[in-house]
Amino acid sequence: MPASGEAGSGVTEVCLGPLQDLPLGVIRTVEIAGLRIGVVRAASGVYAFGDRCPHQGGPICAGRIAGTMLPSGRDEYIYGYDGLVVQCPWHAYEFYVQSGESVGGVIPGRLPVYETEIRDGDVYCQPVRIRVEGERVP
Ligand code: FES
Repeated sequence: MPASGEAGSGVTEVCLGPLQDLPLGVIRTVEIAGLRIGVVRAASGVYAFGDRCPHQGGPICAGRIAGTMLPSGRDEYIYGYDGLVVQCPWHAYEFYVQSGESVGGVIPGRLPVYETEIRDGDVYCQPVRIRVEGERVP
């Protein structure tokens, strides 16, 4: 059971336990302040996103974490962002876990992404949406 406490503005902060107990590339779904949030550990950090796909509301926490194919030349196949892309289980659209933007900008809107922090070896999450203005990639 995650521990919770009050963060600065009265928003509930939840401790999700030790970073080392969060496996790489696996979505852990938690409920914080009535929101279902997927938390994933990547090589570059821990990221959190809402469980409602901006396409048609699919349960994106039931999707999978992977990378994606990058724009490339003819007969080139370049894979990137490994561990930083979540693929929705309903129609397979992909979203960056850091920004919530859809890969390639094909879906308007954005997956909500939330604050995470690692303190003293533990992972904390707040249901505070991160605003990423004008960015297309993490
Ligand atoms: S509902 Fe997620 S891709 Fe369609």
